[in-house]
Amino acid sequence: MTTDMADDQRKEPGVVIDDGWPGYNLELFNYPEHYHGDLECVYVPHGVIMNRIECLARDILEDLEHQDMILLCVLKGGYKFCSDLVESIKAQSRSANRILTTRVEFIRLKSYLNDQSTEDLHIIGPEDLSMLKGKNVLIVEAIVDTGKTMRALQQHVESFQPKLVKVAGLLVKRLPHGMVTLPDYVGFVIPNRFVVGYALDYNEYFRDLNHICVISETGKLKYKV
Ligand code: HPA
Ligand code: MG
Repeated sequence: MTTDMADDQRKEPGVVIDDGWPGYNLELFNYPEHYHGDLECVYVPHGVIMNRIECLARDILEDLEHQDMILLCVLKGGYKFCSDLVESIKAQSRSANRILTTRVEFIRLKSYLNDQSTEDLHIIGPEDLSMLKGKNVLIVEAIVDTGKTMRALQQHVESFQPKLVKVAGLLVKRLPHGMVTLPDYVGFVIPNRFVVGYALDYNEYFRDLNHICVISETGKLKYKV
Protein backbone atom coordinates (compact mmCIF):
# COMPACT_ATOMS: atom_id res chain seq x y z
CA MET A 1 0.00 0.00 0.00
CA THR A 2 2.60 2.46 1.10
CA THR A 3 4.77 1.88 -1.95
CA ASP A 4 1.78 2.27 -4.30
CA MET A 5 1.00 5.59 -2.72
CA ALA A 6 4.60 6.71 -3.07
CA ASP A 7 4.54 5.73 -6.75
CA ASP A 8 1.33 7.68 -7.30
CA GLN A 9 2.77 10.72 -5.63
CA ARG A 10 5.81 10.57 -7.87
CA LYS A 11 3.58 10.82 -10.94
CA GLU A 12 2.81 14.44 -10.03
CA PRO A 13 4.91 16.47 -12.45
CA GLY A 14 5.84 18.98 -9.75
CA VAL A 15 4.10 21.73 -7.80
CA VAL A 16 1.40 23.00 -10.15
CA ILE A 17 0.71 26.74 -10.10
CA ASP A 18 -2.69 27.52 -11.63
CA ASP A 19 -3.31 30.10 -14.36
CA GLY A 20 -5.33 32.17 -11.89
CA TRP A 21 -2.52 32.47 -9.32
CA PRO A 22 -2.06 36.24 -8.73
CA GLY A 23 1.21 35.86 -6.80
CA TYR A 24 1.97 37.47 -3.43
CA ASN A 25 1.79 41.16 -2.73
CA LEU A 26 5.32 42.58 -3.04
CA GLU A 27 4.89 44.64 0.12
CA LEU A 28 4.82 41.44 2.16
CA PHE A 29 8.32 40.43 1.04
CA ASN A 30 11.83 41.74 1.21
CA TYR A 31 13.50 42.39 -2.17
CA PRO A 32 16.13 44.78 -3.55
CA GLU A 33 15.24 48.44 -3.47
CA HIS A 34 16.53 48.99 -7.01
CA TYR A 35 13.69 46.87 -8.37
CA HIS A 36 10.86 48.78 -6.68
CA GLY A 37 8.27 49.51 -9.37
CA ASP A 38 9.72 46.96 -11.78
CA LEU A 39 7.80 43.94 -10.49
CA GLU A 40 4.18 42.92 -10.39
CA CYS A 41 4.23 40.25 -7.69
CA VAL A 42 6.26 37.57 -5.93
CA TYR A 43 5.37 34.42 -7.81
CA VAL A 44 7.46 31.81 -5.97
CA PRO A 45 9.18 32.98 -2.77
CA HIS A 46 12.83 32.03 -2.25
CA GLY A 47 12.08 29.81 0.76
CA VAL A 48 9.57 27.79 -1.24
CA ILE A 49 12.10 27.33 -4.04
CA MET A 50 14.68 26.06 -1.55
CA ASN A 51 12.34 23.57 0.04
CA ARG A 52 11.23 22.23 -3.32
CA ILE A 53 14.88 21.79 -4.34
CA GLU A 54 15.45 19.62 -1.25
CA CYS A 55 12.66 17.34 -2.51
CA LEU A 56 14.17 17.16 -6.00
CA ALA A 57 17.55 16.30 -4.47
CA ARG A 58 15.89 13.53 -2.46
CA ASP A 59 14.20 12.12 -5.60
CA ILE A 60 17.45 12.27 -7.58
CA LEU A 61 19.34 10.43 -4.83
CA GLU A 62 16.63 7.80 -4.64
CA ASP A 63 16.87 7.10 -8.37
CA LEU A 64 20.62 7.19 -8.59
CA GLU A 65 22.17 3.81 -7.95
CA HIS A 66 25.62 4.79 -9.01
CA GLN A 67 28.25 6.56 -7.03
CA ASP A 68 29.11 9.47 -9.18
CA MET A 69 27.35 12.09 -11.19
CA ILE A 70 28.10 15.07 -13.34
CA LEU A 71 25.69 17.97 -13.13
CA LEU A 72 25.66 19.92 -16.36
CA CYS A 73 24.57 23.42 -15.40
CA VAL A 74 22.87 25.39 -18.15
CA LEU A 75 24.09 28.98 -17.82
CA LYS A 76 23.39 31.63 -17.02
CA GLY A 77 19.86 31.05 -15.69
CA GLY A 78 20.65 27.71 -14.08
CA TYR A 79 23.50 28.76 -11.84
CA LYS A 80 21.51 29.26 -8.65
CA PHE A 81 19.36 26.18 -9.12
CA CYS A 82 22.42 24.05 -9.87
CA SER A 83 24.35 25.38 -6.92
CA ASP A 84 21.49 24.88 -4.43
CA LEU A 85 20.65 21.47 -5.91
CA VAL A 86 24.20 20.15 -5.65
CA GLU A 87 24.50 21.39 -2.07
CA SER A 88 21.28 19.63 -1.14
CA ILE A 89 22.34 16.41 -2.88
CA LYS A 90 25.65 16.49 -0.99
CA ALA A 91 24.02 17.23 2.37
CA GLN A 92 21.45 14.45 1.99
CA SER A 93 23.95 11.86 0.80
CA ARG A 94 26.23 12.75 3.73
CA SER A 95 23.46 12.30 6.26
CA ALA A 96 22.50 8.97 4.64
CA ASN A 97 26.16 7.87 4.79
CA ARG A 98 26.25 7.36 1.05
CA ILE A 99 29.36 7.73 -0.99
CA LEU A 100 28.65 10.01 -3.89
CA THR A 101 30.93 12.20 -5.90
CA THR A 102 29.51 15.20 -7.69
CA ARG A 103 31.18 17.22 -10.40
CA VAL A 104 29.71 20.31 -12.00
CA GLU A 105 30.30 21.28 -15.62
CA PHE A 106 28.82 24.24 -17.43
CA ILE A 107 27.25 24.90 -20.77
CA ARG A 108 26.01 28.25 -21.95
CA LEU A 109 22.91 28.85 -24.06
CA LYS A 110 21.32 32.00 -25.34
CA SER A 111 17.98 32.29 -27.05
CA TYR A 112 16.00 35.18 -25.51
CA LEU A 113 15.88 38.90 -26.33
CA ASN A 114 13.56 41.03 -24.17
CA ASP A 115 10.83 38.52 -23.26
CA GLN A 116 10.78 36.75 -26.62
CA SER A 117 12.52 33.59 -27.75
CA THR A 118 14.73 34.33 -30.74
CA GLU A 119 14.05 30.83 -32.09
CA ASP A 120 17.68 30.07 -32.79
CA LEU A 121 19.48 28.31 -30.04
CA HIS A 122 23.13 29.06 -29.52
CA ILE A 123 25.25 26.67 -27.56
CA ILE A 124 28.14 28.86 -26.46
CA GLY A 125 30.86 26.56 -25.20
CA PRO A 126 32.40 24.46 -24.06
CA GLU A 127 33.07 22.69 -27.34
CA ASP A 128 34.45 19.64 -25.67
CA LEU A 129 32.22 17.69 -23.33
CA SER A 130 34.21 14.47 -23.67
CA MET A 131 34.41 14.25 -19.87
CA LEU A 132 30.75 13.12 -20.01
CA LYS A 133 31.65 9.83 -21.67
CA GLY A 134 30.44 6.87 -19.61
CA LYS A 135 29.12 9.10 -16.82
CA ASN A 136 25.75 9.71 -15.17
CA VAL A 137 24.76 13.15 -16.37
CA LEU A 138 22.08 15.39 -14.91
CA ILE A 139 21.27 18.40 -17.09
CA VAL A 140 20.21 21.25 -14.79
CA GLU A 141 17.99 23.92 -16.33
CA ALA A 142 16.17 26.76 -14.58
CA ILE A 143 13.30 26.96 -17.05
CA VAL A 144 11.85 24.74 -19.75
CA ASP A 145 9.22 26.23 -22.04
CA THR A 146 8.81 24.78 -25.52
CA GLY A 147 11.10 21.89 -24.67
CA LYS A 148 13.04 22.57 -27.86
CA THR A 149 16.14 23.67 -26.01
CA MET A 150 15.91 20.72 -23.67
CA ARG A 151 15.70 18.22 -26.53
CA ALA A 152 18.50 19.87 -28.53
CA LEU A 153 20.67 19.84 -25.46
CA GLN A 154 19.86 16.21 -24.66
CA GLN A 155 20.92 15.23 -28.18
CA HIS A 156 24.08 17.27 -27.90
CA VAL A 157 24.93 15.55 -24.61
CA GLU A 158 24.08 12.07 -25.96
CA SER A 159 26.63 12.56 -28.72
CA PHE A 160 29.36 12.41 -26.05
CA GLN A 161 28.18 8.90 -25.06
CA PRO A 162 27.32 9.29 -21.38
CA LYS A 163 26.05 6.26 -19.44
CA LEU A 164 22.80 7.97 -18.45
CA VAL A 165 21.20 11.36 -19.08
CA LYS A 166 18.48 12.88 -16.90
CA VAL A 167 17.07 16.40 -16.86
CA ALA A 168 16.09 18.55 -13.89
CA GLY A 169 14.00 21.66 -14.63
CA LEU A 170 13.10 24.03 -11.80
CA LEU A 171 10.26 25.63 -13.75
CA VAL A 172 8.24 24.18 -16.61
CA LYS A 173 5.90 26.53 -18.47
CA ARG A 174 2.41 25.36 -19.35
CA LEU A 175 2.10 26.36 -23.01
CA PRO A 176 -1.04 26.24 -25.21
CA HIS A 177 0.35 23.40 -27.31
CA GLY A 178 1.84 21.55 -24.39
CA MET A 179 5.10 19.77 -24.15
CA VAL A 180 5.55 16.18 -25.21
CA THR A 181 8.35 15.32 -22.85
CA LEU A 182 8.73 16.72 -19.38
CA PRO A 183 12.06 16.86 -17.58
CA ASP A 184 12.67 13.87 -15.28
CA TYR A 185 12.61 16.16 -12.24
CA VAL A 186 10.31 19.17 -12.19
CA GLY A 187 10.19 21.85 -9.51
CA PHE A 188 7.12 23.87 -10.50
CA VAL A 189 4.73 23.85 -13.44
CA ILE A 190 3.83 27.49 -14.04
CA PRO A 191 1.49 29.45 -16.34
CA ASN A 192 2.89 30.96 -19.52
CA ARG A 193 4.14 34.22 -17.97
CA PHE A 194 7.55 35.80 -18.16
CA VAL A 195 9.24 35.44 -14.78
CA VAL A 196 12.52 36.77 -13.41
CA GLY A 197 14.73 36.27 -10.37
CA TYR A 198 16.65 33.39 -8.85
CA ALA A 199 19.16 33.85 -11.73
CA LEU A 200 16.48 34.20 -14.42
CA ASP A 201 16.92 37.46 -16.30
CA TYR A 202 15.26 40.01 -18.49
CA ASN A 203 18.13 41.35 -20.64
CA GLU A 204 20.57 40.46 -17.85
CA TYR A 205 18.59 42.27 -15.13
CA PHE A 206 16.90 40.65 -12.12
CA ARG A 207 19.36 37.77 -11.71
CA ASP A 208 20.18 39.29 -8.31
CA LEU A 209 16.61 38.92 -7.06
CA ASN A 210 16.11 35.86 -4.81
CA HIS A 211 12.39 35.30 -5.31
CA ILE A 212 10.88 34.31 -8.64
CA CYS A 213 8.71 37.28 -9.61
CA VAL A 214 6.58 38.55 -12.48
CA ILE A 215 8.03 41.63 -14.15
CA SER A 216 5.80 44.72 -14.48
CA GLU A 217 5.19 46.67 -17.71
CA THR A 218 7.30 49.49 -16.23
CA GLY A 219 10.12 47.02 -15.65
CA LYS A 220 9.89 45.69 -19.19
CA LEU A 221 10.13 49.20 -20.64
CA LYS A 222 12.90 50.29 -18.30
CA TYR A 223 15.22 47.41 -19.23
CA LYS A 224 14.22 46.93 -22.87
CA VAL A 225 17.00 46.82 -25.47
N1 HPA B 1 12.09 34.27 -17.74
C1 HPA B 1 13.41 34.36 -18.01
N2 HPA B 1 14.02 33.66 -18.96
C2 HPA B 1 13.25 32.83 -19.69
C3 HPA B 1 11.88 32.69 -19.47
C4 HPA B 1 11.26 33.45 -18.45
O1 HPA B 1 10.03 33.38 -18.18
N3 HPA B 1 11.43 31.78 -20.37
C5 HPA B 1 12.52 31.39 -21.09
N4 HPA B 1 13.61 32.00 -20.71
MG1 MG C 1 17.80 34.87 -20.31
